[in-house]
Amino acid sequence: MQTVETINELKQIIALNKDKTIGFVPTMGYLHEGHLALLNKARSENELVVASIFVNPAQFGPNEDLDRYPRDIKRDTQLATNAGVDIIFIPTPEQMYPFDSGISITVGDLSTKLCGESRPGHFDGVLKVITKLFHLVQPTKAYFGQKDAQQLAIIETFVNAYNFPVEIVRVQTVRESDGLAKSSRNVFLNEKERSEAIHLYKALQLATIRWEETKDLTAAITIGKDHIESNTSGKIDYFEALSYPSLQQVTDDTKEVLFATAVFFEKARLIDNILIVKKDV
Ligand code: PAF
Repeated sequence: MQTVETINELKQIIALNKDKTIGFVPTMGYLHEGHLALLNKARSENELVVASIFVNPAQFGPNEDLDRYPRDIKRDTQLATNAGVDIIFIPTPEQMYPFDSGISITVGDLSTKLCGESRPGHFDGVLKVITKLFHLVQPTKAYFGQKDAQQLAIIETFVNAYNFPVEIVRVQTVRESDGLAKSSRNVFLNEKERSEAIHLYKALQLATIRWEETKDLTAAITIGKDHIESNTSGKIDYFEALSYPSLQQVTDDTKEVLFATAVFFEKARLIDNILIVKKDV
């Protein structure tokens, strides 16, 4: 595996591999099994696998956890090597953002709900870095976890709307054996919160079961919220059901329904979701 730190070097390597299929996995590092699932899928479907590790300042708000976002490049490099990654791109913020162009990407409506509501500007920052990375890596396919459902919906929509020549591959959420979705931020949970955190997924399961049985969305959401409130010390940011990937109100014609939640614990805000694909639509 080759570690690349500069844009010039990356461009040269991509030019040398222009005839190969390139699978790309963008990450912010502190790799866990969720990332490894993305890397494994990329490895199985492409001739060249490129991963990036960049804790992107553009997607963190002023009071968010940019400075204390967990980092372990040595361990990440080893994990990426074991996963068969060919190129790992680890740029500095100065490499990625050498000057302020004054031009920005604004997501609009898709970013006004779910996580976007409490993280203004977050998805603009995600698209800023993804645009640059896609132009640099020129991937055939790029791999994103379904756990970050809103991010995935926005990237799919952006790529379709602006004709990026890349296929976006959705990869299912990887969970701990007790159901907690793998996340780099799980390290911030204390012991009590860690045991409570399994109730996010349980609440989503209860809500989706209720909805599938009754088609009563309000009742389903109430059951989910009640479950989190009775079983955790966390504060619900949202618990919602929306059409996917358009993130609009669910109607009879909605093909994919996203049940999603975010919960604030003392030092971490956790998210999780379940995506239901309706067979009869
Ligand atoms: O999901 C993430 O880790 C980040 O949002 C991404 C896609 C790597 C962009 O910085």
